[in-house]
Amino acid sequence: AAGDPTAGAAVFKKCAACHAAEQGVNKVGPSLYGVVGRPAGSIAGYSYSPAVKQAAAKGLVWTEDAIVAYLVNPHKYLGDFVGDPSISNKMPFSLADEQQRQDVVAYLKSLAPQ
Ligand code: HEM
Repeated sequence: AAGDPTAGAAVFKKCAACHAAEQGVNKVGPSLYGVVGRPAGSIAGYSYSPAVKQAAAKGLVWTEDAIVAYLVNPHKYLGDFVGDPSISNKMPFSLADEQQRQDVVAYLKSLAPQ
């Protein structure tokens, strides 16, 4: 799926309310530096929700496809992944536009060596 990292940098402004693109900088949400390919819930010192911790325990890795799907509806994505719709997650944001999801993932991928 073809995302445009330059367009994605503009989309990331929406994420930047809660996420830094710099390594080691956590805000309300964890740093997204190097998130593509990273196991879910793996930033040491960041306090994840039970939803992310359970998904991590079941092996969730933030592939490009996983992030694109998560951003449609984070609560539903994690609930489906762990098989429990009643879990709670801490990310109160979603991105309905498919192209924007692809673009922001391409931007995130461009931040760190793969
Ligand atoms: C978690 C992506 C916007 C708050 C995450 C994670 C990803 C992500 C991939 C999981 C990180 C990990 O497991 O280490 C994005 C992207 C965004 C965006 C690409 C923009 C398109 C936002 C916004 C907020 C937010 C606007 C706040 C209003 C959070 C929080 C978590 C999180 C609190 C931790 C979730 C938990 O523990 O349940 N985000 N996010 N995010 N995000 Fe976002």
